[in-house]
Amino acid sequence: MKDLGWKPNRLSPVPLHRQIEEYIKGKILNGEWTIGTKIPSQRQLADSLCVNRSTVVTALDELTAQGLLEGKKGGGTKVINNTWSLLAANPPLDWNSYVRSGIHHPNLPTVQEINRAEFYPDMIRLGTGELSPELLPYKQMQNIWDRLSVRMMSLGYEEPKGDLFLRQAVTEHLKNIGIHTSPSSVLIVSGALQALQLISIGLLHRGSSVLLEKPSYLYSVHVFQSAGMKLVGVPMDEQGIQTSFLPRYRKQYGGALLYSIPSFHNPTGILMTENRRKDLLTTCEQERLPIVEDDVYRDLWMDCPPPMPLKANDKNGNVLYVGSLSKTVSPGLRIGWVVGPEPVIERLADIKMQTDYGSSSLSQWAAAEWLSSGLYQEHLSYIRRELKSRRDATIDLLQKHFGNIASWNVPKGGFYIWLRFIPSIPIRELFEKALKEGILLNPGNVYDRDTTQYIRISCSYASLSDMEYGLARLSIIIRDLMNKCELPRT
Ligand SMILES: Cc1ncc(COP(=O)(O)O)c(C=O)c1O
Repeated sequence: MKDLGWKPNRLSPVPLHRQIEEYIKGKILNGEWTIGTKIPSQRQLADSLCVNRSTVVTALDELTAQGLLEGKKGGGTKVINNTWSLLAANPPLDWNSYVRSGIHHPNLPTVQEINRAEFYPDMIRLGTGELSPELLPYKQMQNIWDRLSVRMMSLGYEEPKGDLFLRQAVTEHLKNIGIHTSPSSVLIVSGALQALQLISIGLLHRGSSVLLEKPSYLYSVHVFQSAGMKLVGVPMDEQGIQTSFLPRYRKQYGGALLYSIPSFHNPTGILMTENRRKDLLTTCEQERLPIVEDDVYRDLWMDCPPPMPLKANDKNGNVLYVGSLSKTVSPGLRIGWVVGPEPVIERLADIKMQTDYGSSSLSQWAAAEWLSSGLYQEHLSYIRRELKSRRDATIDLLQKHFGNIASWNVPKGGFYIWLRFIPSIPIRELFEKALKEGILLNPGNVYDRDTTQYIRISCSYASLSDMEYGLARLSIIIRDLMNKCELPRT
C-alpha cells in the first residue's frame, strides 16, 4: 500500500475519525478522487494512517451517510458524489464573498428598492417608465400568437443578427423616419438595454469615458461602469444636450463615445430641437466622437412627430441607432434593435451569440408580425391619444397640488414629467414616507447623483384615479416635511 503522504494529528483536539473524514472529503473536493474512484480498503487506510480499523470505519460510515461514498460487498468503496451542495454542508460555502467579488456593479440601493416595490400589491407607481397594464395590447398580442401558431415556424436558433424577416420589417419601419438601411446592418437584441450592454463590452476598452446628458437614464443602470468605463455628464438646456461643452469635455475626459436620448429624454422629457440635432451631428463628426442614439421613445409623440433621428442625417456612419418595442408594445417581449456600420453590427452579433445565442425566436416572430402587419402603427395612434390625455390630466393635477412648491416641463411625447421642488426637500425621506403610504417614487438622484431636488413623474403607468390620489397625497407629505423642517416656501 503506497503511503498517502498524510497522517492525522494525534495532538489535535479534533477526533481522529473526524480528521480522516475531512481528509478524504478534501481529496474528493479537490478532484483528486473523482467520482468512481475506488478508495483504499479499510485495512490499507488504517495501516497507512496508523489508526485502528474501527476509526477508519467510523470516518467511512460518515462519508457514506453524507452520500459521498458507497461500499459494495466484495467490490470495495467508491466515490459516488462530489456535488457542491453535499460538500457545502460542512463547512458552509461563503457565497457572500462571491457576490461581493462579481464583476458587474450592483444597482443603486434605491433602484433595488424600486424594483422590489413595483411588485407590491396595490402600489401606486407615480414614476414607472412603462405602459400601464390598461394600455398594453393583450388582445392584439393574442391575435398575433393565433396567427403565428398556424404558420410553419422553426423552433431552432435564429441567425446571429436575428430573424431575417424581423430585420426586414425593422428596415421598412425605419424608412418611415428617414433611416435607410439594409437588414445586414441591423442586429436584433433583447431590448435596448442589451444593445447598450453589447456596445459597452464590444466596442470600448476599460478606462474609456462615455459622454452623456446630465441627468440620464444611463446613470440608473451600471452597464458601462461595470465594464470599467466612466460616465461624464454634459449639461442640458430645454433644447437638449449643450453641444458647446463637447469639444472641451472630449479633450478633458477623453470621451470615447456619446450616448444621447434626443427624443423625449428619460428622465427630463426634453425633445432635442432640429437645430440642436444638426449641431450635435456636426460637432461629433468634427470631434470624431461616435454617437449612440437611444430612440426608444420616438414613436410616442403626442402633438406632432419629432424631428428626424440623428441617424437619418448620418452620412458617415457615426451613429449607432437603438430602438425597441418595450415602450410602445410590450417590455416583456424583450425585442429591440441596433443599426450601424456592418463591422460594428457583426462584432455585436458575435458577442450576442456568445452571450445568449440570440433573442427568443418566439418574440422575434411576434415582433415581425407587429411591425409588418400594420398593427404597430394602428396601436400607436391609440397609445398617442391615451398618453396625451394622461399627460394633460397629470399637468392639471400638478397645477392643482404643486403650483407653489414645484416647477415642471410639459412633455411633447414619451412618458416623463421632470418635477423640480422649489423648497429644498429631503428626497430620501420623501421617498420613504411615500412608500409607507403605498406611493412609489423615482427620485431624481437615480438619474444623476447631484440632482437632489427632482422626482420623475411618468404619465404612462398609474391610472387616472391613482394619479389623482397619489399626487394629492404626495403634496400633503411634502407640506408636512416642509413644516417639520421649517423649510422656506419659495
Ligand atoms: C432611454 C432608455 N433606453 C433603454 C431602456 C431599456 O429598454 P428595453 O426595455 O428595450 O431594454 C429604457 C427603459 O426605461 C430607457 O428609458
